[in-house]
Amino acid sequence: MPVPAPILYPPFNIVRLSHVDYAVTDLARSRAFYADTLGLRITQEDPDAIYLRAMEERGHHCMILRQADTACVNLLAFKVFAEDDLDKAAAWFAAQNLSPTWVERPYQGRTLAVKDPWGMPLEFYAAMDRLPSIHQNYALYAGVKPLRIEHFNMFSADVDAAVAFYNQMGFKVTEYTEDEDTGRVWAAWMDRKGGVHDIAFTNGTGPRLHHTAFWVPTPLNIIDLLDLMSTTGWIANIERGPGRHGISNAFFLYVLDPDGHRIEIYCSDYQTIDPDHEPIRWDLKDPQRQTLWGAPAPRSWFEEGSVFADCPTTQSDMKAQPIIAP
Ligand SMILES: [Fe+2]
Repeated sequence: MPVPAPILYPPFNIVRLSHVDYAVTDLARSRAFYADTLGLRITQEDPDAIYLRAMEERGHHCMILRQADTACVNLLAFKVFAEDDLDKAAAWFAAQNLSPTWVERPYQGRTLAVKDPWGMPLEFYAAMDRLPSIHQNYALYAGVKPLRIEHFNMFSADVDAAVAFYNQMGFKVTEYTEDEDTGRVWAAWMDRKGGVHDIAFTNGTGPRLHHTAFWVPTPLNIIDLLDLMSTTGWIANIERGPGRHGISNAFFLYVLDPDGHRIEIYCSDYQTIDPDHEPIRWDLKDPQRQTLWGAPAPRSWFEEGSVFADCPTTQSDMKAQPIIAP
């Protein structure tokens, strides 16, 4: 199925992805991973939850860790342009029979919660508490020096349908992988903020979160993180990379948090803000789409992901087998 044309005037205006809310089974261990190792800054610490932000972010949080008996993803959140975009979003989701609700969230203004057609929990807000800039407080930089949250990547059992739905919300396809034999889309990268993506969908048992990505200043920060993780007890949490993706051109590393939530460390993709930006098509049989330098991904990278709260998964009927390392 060809990817849809971008909708330049969507029903409501999403600015960018905002934050992820993870359920974790050992909050202290997750704190050691995200704050002490990756270098995210803690903005609020409660007995059962920790809020964090990255170094150039003025908003209160880009990640929430919540103590829970079972690990999962509680929700993915997006910032909209203005308050009336929330009302437009509420009307649009209601017209899709998705029953949006207004919820109270600390450090945020009005917040709209909804589940997408596959049960993935989403939230939208326009205003979040602003914190003083720490961007040039270099004494505070640690770990991989994360600058900002970059994107979410989800497993979907029907990528064509997910792309069609999120395209209506204003996300435009920047790159995609197509199965030449069936003409179906295997994976797609979709943006709002003018990079390669805010969200991506990859064929597989879904919905599940494949990873959350953070932007870092340079590839050298990724090398430094590998040295740090490999000498501080986190070596088993290094999953894939470093490398360069064909898709997006990003320099990447994938690491796993203590519950197996996958985090990508990412830099050097490119600008896509032209309204007539043409998506790049990749063939599913081209191994360089995954790693430009040729090294295949481990099997875990194709199969393991984080489930969403109260969201049953469906197996995909697309079985084309990507290149997998032994
Ligand atoms: Fe990614």
